[in-house]
Amino acid sequence: MERTKTRILVTGAGGYIGTTLVPLLLERGYAVRAVDRFFFGRNLLPFHDDLEIVKEDSRKLTLEHFDDVHAVIDLVAISNDPSGELFPEATVAINCTSRIRSARLAKAAGVRRYVLPSSCSIYGFQAEGTVADEDSPTNPLTSYARANEMAEKGVLPLADDGFCVVVLRQATVYGLSPRMRFDLAINGMTYGAWKTRELPLMRDGTQWRPMVHVKDTASAQIFMLEVDPARINGRIFNVGSQRSTYRLGALGETVAESVGPDVSICWYGDPDVRSYRVAFDRIEALGWRAEMTAEDGVSEICAALEAGAIDKTVQTITLDWYRDLARWHSIIREVELHGGILEL
Ligand SMILES: NC(=O)c1ccc[n+]([C@@H]2O[C@H](COP(=O)([O-])OP(=O)(O)OC[C@H]3O[C@@H](n4cnc5c(N)ncnc54)[C@H](O)[C@@H]3O)[C@@H](O)[C@H]2O)c1
Repeated sequence: MERTKTRILVTGAGGYIGTTLVPLLLERGYAVRAVDRFFFGRNLLPFHDDLEIVKEDSRKLTLEHFDDVHAVIDLVAISNDPSGELFPEATVAINCTSRIRSARLAKAAGVRRYVLPSSCSIYGFQAEGTVADEDSPTNPLTSYARANEMAEKGVLPLADDGFCVVVLRQATVYGLSPRMRFDLAINGMTYGAWKTRELPLMRDGTQWRPMVHVKDTASAQIFMLEVDPARINGRIFNVGSQRSTYRLGALGETVAESVGPDVSICWYGDPDVRSYRVAFDRIEALGWRAEMTAEDGVSEICAALEAGAIDKTVQTITLDWYRDLARWHSIIREVELHGGILEL
């Protein structure tokens, strides 16, 4: 008789990290319940016998969605700072309130583990020379970062002997994924350098930023499903590596060199006030390590661009896509009558 597979519920499964994570979970022999309202389309996840798609808003999940689920990876979010400033209420409702609610529902349904993928951006600005660890004071500077911190504070107290809760503060993610994002630092720099031979770099270049490859952060999430719960329960872990921690100026040079010899730097914007260095000793002490480098990410993205497999469309810039969806929603509401426009 075939053994029933361990089921993992992933929210935000149709996003940048989710569309990389889900195939890795399936490859590892898990069954996956993928929950998303698919703002970026359904076709980015594979068809697979062990993959169940639930098209639903995370704010409307019920106890039944958590039936027969071993663990939850709660990726769902309005996923960056500018989108958080444009849609502050939705950001709190989705990134914080819905995730705390899902953690409670999961616990009530008998789920054993809950992973909250949070963000190192909650360190915000740290004084030069400081390397923040998970116990350092946080300094969230944006609505997005504050919502993540509130979500952390809401889910961690749910941890007990039967319900393992772990928070992962991810560094800024980079690399190729089916739901491609060019609004992330390395990815955006790579695109600009590849397309125009001018690499866009946010002033003033001295700000520190830890980076992590999308496959590495997905592997950290899977690692948290399998490690002894006593070692992680109720704890926070930064996810990334010292090797991939850069000042943005130096990162720009690394990316430029990886793209090609004729790429120059093109500065833009006001100086970015967010700057943080982060320690990764806690997660490394568990035995997890980031494996990929910025150069790996740049070369896979360039290869996909060369092959015409990806391009910078409005859907790859999270803020622009949400802004367009909101604009079209209001236009459609105005012209729609009897449930249709031209066809009734
Ligand atoms: N990408 C990064 O650099 C990074 C860094 C640190 C933390 N994170 C966190 O990791 C998580 C995933 O990030 P990502 O880069 O994959 O973002 P993403 O925007 O690509 O994916 C988010 C997914 O959530 C879905 N979604 C949004 N609101 C929803 C709702 N109300 N109900 C159902 N689905 C909804 C979207 O359709 C999308 O598929 C987020 O929590 C983000 O804050 C990301």
